[in-house]
Amino acid sequence: MCGIVGFTGQQNAAPILLDGLKKLEYRGYDSAGIAVMCDAQISVNKVTGRIANLCERTKDGEAVPGTVGIGHTRWATHGAPTEENAHPHLSNDGRFAVVHNGIIENYIALREKLIKDGYHFDSETDTEVIVHLVERYYKGDMLEALIKTTNKLQGSYALGVICSEEPGKIYAAREASPLIIGVGADENYFASDVTALVNHTRNVIYLEDGEFAELSPDAVHVYDCLGKPVDKKVTRVLWDVQAAEKGGYEHFMLKEIMEQPAAVKATIAPRVKDGKIVFEELGITLPQLKKIRKIVITACGSAYYAGCAGKYAIEHLSKIPVEVELASELRYSDPLIDEHTLLVVISQSGETADTIAAMKECKARGAKSLAIVNVVGSTVAKLADYTVYTWAGPEIAVATTKGYTTQVTVLYMLALYFADMLDRVDDYSIRLKAIESLPRKIQQAIDINSHVQYLAQKYHGSKSLFFIGRNTDYATALEGSLKMKEISYLHAEAYAAGELKHGTIALIEDHQPVIALCCNPMIMEKTLSNIVEVKSRGAEVLALTFKNNQKILSVADDFMFIPDIDALFSAVIEIVPLQLLAYYVAKENGCDIDKPKNLAKSVTVE
Ligand code: F6R
Repeated sequence: MCGIVGFTGQQNAAPILLDGLKKLEYRGYDSAGIAVMCDAQISVNKVTGRIANLCERTKDGEAVPGTVGIGHTRWATHGAPTEENAHPHLSNDGRFAVVHNGIIENYIALREKLIKDGYHFDSETDTEVIVHLVERYYKGDMLEALIKTTNKLQGSYALGVICSEEPGKIYAAREASPLIIGVGADENYFASDVTALVNHTRNVIYLEDGEFAELSPDAVHVYDCLGKPVDKKVTRVLWDVQAAEKGGYEHFMLKEIMEQPAAVKATIAPRVKDGKIVFEELGITLPQLKKIRKIVITACGSAYYAGCAGKYAIEHLSKIPVEVELASELRYSDPLIDEHTLLVVISQSGETADTIAAMKECKARGAKSLAIVNVVGSTVAKLADYTVYTWAGPEIAVATTKGYTTQVTVLYMLALYFADMLDRVDDYSIRLKAIESLPRKIQQAIDINSHVQYLAQKYHGSKSLFFIGRNTDYATALEGSLKMKEISYLHAEAYAAGELKHGTIALIEDHQPVIALCCNPMIMEKTLSNIVEVKSRGAEVLALTFKNNQKILSVADDFMFIPDIDALFSAVIEIVPLQLLAYYVAKENGCDIDKPKNLAKSVTVE
């Protein structure tokens, strides 16, 4: 939800902290702050709004001397986005500053106790209790103070702390919130995400839950929850720095849409060997697979819609029944899940709180878990019995694009892989060829829809938009309408086309835009009847279909196109024009496309 950074070294800390915060801004962007230590004094600068305001306030950091500091970009949960509530928070005696990502669930009780004991609070945040606890427990040993403090906390946290009596040092602690240490030459860092580190170093250490770190310019020490030193592996980040830059595009979202052919190729290519799908990361044997009675897919938002799209392929090919459940519902539903269930967990970030909670609930009931994740070393990846990385590269825009398409691609591959293991597929090579053609077809979908930006001029003023489709088209409509709402702020609703006449058709009137997905030949005629139904009530229909689909061409008003593709695998292609439409509509409406209001990239709170 929020992003934190820390730096200790020989250079001025503030410009480095600001650079890191800019990279993390996608995690939260309603206020920001830095605390920098110089000559045993901590100075704090905080602003509401974007990091740009903090850069302006501090003259790009040049106005703030000191080589040690911590920073934070916030997505408000406890208390409005004001300067008082922005992090870092200072202790009453000014010796400690704290930044925090996560939620302290027992903060009210802690706050009441601290107030009784004479501490005063400057903010409404849950975080502020942490800095007062650190002050209370510090007796010359920061590690001890941090262990005692975190023992009092319930909830999740990635913490960064500095103390004016510990020159050159920054401290970090982690529980259920990501935190990564960057190991440099004569300088060290921490951050919520590697994107904030790769400009400086590619050598990273993933902190685990319950661990603490003490960083000075020339050393990194990690300790467990009892204060015992832990030997940590330094991992090399392989992806390109440019992948986290805009690279000439106006927005990350457009860049990430355009990267989809390469991203989907990176998902597929390493897993196809000698004409066969190979998942080296899966240890599921045939006897184990045969014991699976159902697959339950769980996720949130677009990742959930990826599950909806993948279900058709898994059921059709492998004949294993699939249920797709919203993680926020599954976790409280007393689910009928046991050791005969394979739980498939989908998450781009691997840090989504509801997804993690649902996963833990199902694991406790005996299910084996298979995670489809993009962010390496994330919590979901670590909790899973098997992890399949999507290899999409860093996704910075808050609205997912390549994250979604690579997730669906993994599901297609799993569908065919399981079907082959169970000997339930006779057109294996044809299906595999169709999957292998996806990167090329995504590129074609981008190329043949350059006119979508002009369609956006027609549709951007609409009060609301309906997305309709059946079967795989319906699954894609769900994701298409989410893209539209979240970045353009237009009301958009996805409907199973056959359901319209059960109530919603009452809303169709003259000029109501209806985006009709007709890419599945099996039910094309049925969707066609729904198009005719809405047309006859005055709707304006923008159809998404094959270029030569004469039947649809003769009834709809406007068109977007996809190249020919096996309908079972079409979601990955169909979504591309819908992403472009949402992007250009948002652009017409002057929206902040990469950082839509009220949203954050990684939803680490319930
Ligand atoms: C929408 C979007 C969100 C995420 C959801 C889950 O564009 O990005 O709906 O899909 O918050 O996030 P992850 O995949 O990180 O678990």
